Amino acid sequence: MKRFLPISLVMLLAGWFSETRAQHAEQASRWADSLLSRMTVEEKIGQMTLIDLGVVAKGKPCALELPQAIDNDKLRMALQRYHVGNILNTGCGSGAMTLENWRRIIRTIQEENQAINRHGISILYGIDAIHGANYTLGSTLFPQQLAQAASWNPELVERVNRASAYETRAAGIPWNFSPVLDLGRQPLWSRFFETYGEDVYLATTMGQAAIRGLQGESLSSPYSVAACLKHFAGYSMPLSGKDRTPAWIPERELREYFLPPFAAAFNAGAATTMINSGDISGTPVHVDSFMLQQVLRREMGFKGLAVTDWEDIYKLSDIHRVAANRKEAVRMAIEAGIDMSMTPNDFQFNDLLLDLVKEGRIPESRLDVSVKRILLLKRQLGLFEQTTFADSFYTAVGSEAHRKLSYDAAVASITLLKNENNTLPLENTRQRWAICGPGAHSMHLLNGAWSRSWQGTDTTYRHEGRKTIAQAMQDNLGDQLRVLPAFPDATQLKKTMRAADGIIVCLAEKPGTEIPCNIDALDLPADQKKLVADALAIGKPVVLVCTFNRPLIITEEVEKAAAVLYTYLPGDEGGRATADILSGKASPGGRLPFTYPRSSGDIVHYDRKHTENMYSDFSANGYRPLFDFAHGLSYLTHVAYAVKVSDSVLNDSNFIQLQFTVLHSGSLSGQLTVPVYYSRAYASITPPVKKLIRFVTVEREPGHSNQTFAFALRKSDFSFINRRMERVSEPGPVTLYIGDFTKQITIR
Ligand code: BGC
Repeated sequence: MKRFLPISLVMLLAGWFSETRAQHAEQASRWADSLLSRMTVEEKIGQMTLIDLGVVAKGKPCALELPQAIDNDKLRMALQRYHVGNILNTGCGSGAMTLENWRRIIRTIQEENQAINRHGISILYGIDAIHGANYTLGSTLFPQQLAQAASWNPELVERVNRASAYETRAAGIPWNFSPVLDLGRQPLWSRFFETYGEDVYLATTMGQAAIRGLQGESLSSPYSVAACLKHFAGYSMPLSGKDRTPAWIPERELREYFLPPFAAAFNAGAATTMINSGDISGTPVHVDSFMLQQVLRREMGFKGLAVTDWEDIYKLSDIHRVAANRKEAVRMAIEAGIDMSMTPNDFQFNDLLLDLVKEGRIPESRLDVSVKRILLLKRQLGLFEQTTFADSFYTAVGSEAHRKLSYDAAVASITLLKNENNTLPLENTRQRWAICGPGAHSMHLLNGAWSRSWQGTDTTYRHEGRKTIAQAMQDNLGDQLRVLPAFPDATQLKKTMRAADGIIVCLAEKPGTEIPCNIDALDLPADQKKLVADALAIGKPVVLVCTFNRPLIITEEVEKAAAVLYTYLPGDEGGRATADILSGKASPGGRLPFTYPRSSGDIVHYDRKHTENMYSDFSANGYRPLFDFAHGLSYLTHVAYAVKVSDSVLNDSNFIQLQFTVLHSGSLSGQLTVPVYYSRAYASITPPVKKLIRFVTVEREPGHSNQTFAFALRKSDFSFINRRMERVSEPGPVTLYIGDFTKQITIR
């Protein structure tokens, strides 16, 4: 028999918990104030400074001696003269190091700092652990963020981030510059693969899962790291597609699309955020007090730390030119609300800010606001008690369990876009296949940027035991597979294909991120286009495997190919996962987290407006993507049916319950996703044709089984931003869509 606690007792307990939390916060605040009262201005400025490892390591700032080692003189200078409180990176992202070396470096820094810092304030070390602890050799590399979104599986994304936090903190690093919550609505943008895709609800759900995974129950756990939401906000939508160029985002669109994933992640407890390097409508976000104070602090209630992106204070004068000189740039950024400067290669920020305080142009009380946030974060991370934990805490770095999680995440995200006549999975027992293409033979192309180096371009990158697609296919097909070079010539291709039943062509995009990875068009590189054309010319089935940073245009190729698998950047286990899907050992679980364009100039998102829809034969405006958002085929079959909706009217006080059953069949285990959409008949702001409101993803074992899901929808779930910048849920008719089922409801 279930026993329930009396409601009065529940309320009493809830009250007690929130009171205790308030008492702890009050106590922590008094502690920080007392510490602040004993700090000099120079010490405070040091806490607001984040320098690159290169500044204190042997060698030159962006060209360190390898293996990286601390230069004690440089470190002492940074700590004694500038009281530096925070360090990041590996020397401009120059290279990964072993776990042992990381631990040695972090210990050296913390020990030296403890000897020098008279308040015992530890160093906060931060890193870009983007898809695993990618700067630690031997760590587990997971699928990149866009791939994770394609899994539509928040529970899996939470576990991936948990493992990533574990392997990051193992190195002694408690701060991770992840996740990216910028929406992926501009596929030209070089960081598209770092997003959770184009949809607000999907990105919001995944962002919250990532925060739960990274931060765990407590930041002071040896297995948690502080998350850093990037890049607040609007960075992902440069008009030209080029990184760090102007975004034209009106305030309403900013509030409707770009801010909600951040707001939800702050609600989930995200400890820090990094500011957008670019400008929105002509104002660099680093000087935008509307964004940094009104939106971030007052509206979103964020109490944590706001750090600049790389050199972004200097860039206010050097590049954006909104400041007369670097000193003005420092003043403007600090006045706007920046807490910490990722300077990161010198100490000019410290000297300039000190001058500004001495001249009375920045009051010391302004520094106190930021330094207090930094001290409180360090306290939450437990850095005042213990900066590193014993080796024995971290026996699972690069472990089989984490490797399996990476494999599972890759299988769950890889998306089957086309499968004519059930070409896939391959008939392993009788058919003979050939494989070629640049993606077939490379580990670094499967991993992309942020893999052992910033740009991830090291072609020799190989983690012992991890397989390329071709190697893993050979394990699966043995003699039935003929492995060709990346670009076989036409004669070689013809000769091989005489004895083969079909060919797998693995296409791939050069890894890269940020400005170095800017592109001018979404075209598939000419040599890869030719390779596909040569393969198709033979007349046998061609299977395309696309390992891309973003949706490169493959319209012609898709039309003629028998099957198309889109892998995103699937990570170190991506070769095995792809091969297992091709050969039928696993079922592809992914669905597109973006709309796949048919051509480079036809970027329309699934939540398009009616003017962007194909509403007449004569309309040149038209939504005709190559593949729709959420498209993804499977070897499993499933149907959602028996949808019940508890009510047809929604008002301010009720909710409606949506219930449906999913029937799953098939001989493989795997996951399936059911998206739920809605559309409004009309609204004061042009409504989208459809919009994602919920989804369910289930992992199933082989065989037939039913599972019933139910969730509640409230009036607020149908809200949008009106012309007065208010979130409203206007009355009117709404249609709900689940699979083929539709239901009309009315909002009152
Ligand atoms: C990127 C950030 C990253 C930072 C530190 C910048 O160039 O924009 O995303 O966290 O470098 O490496």
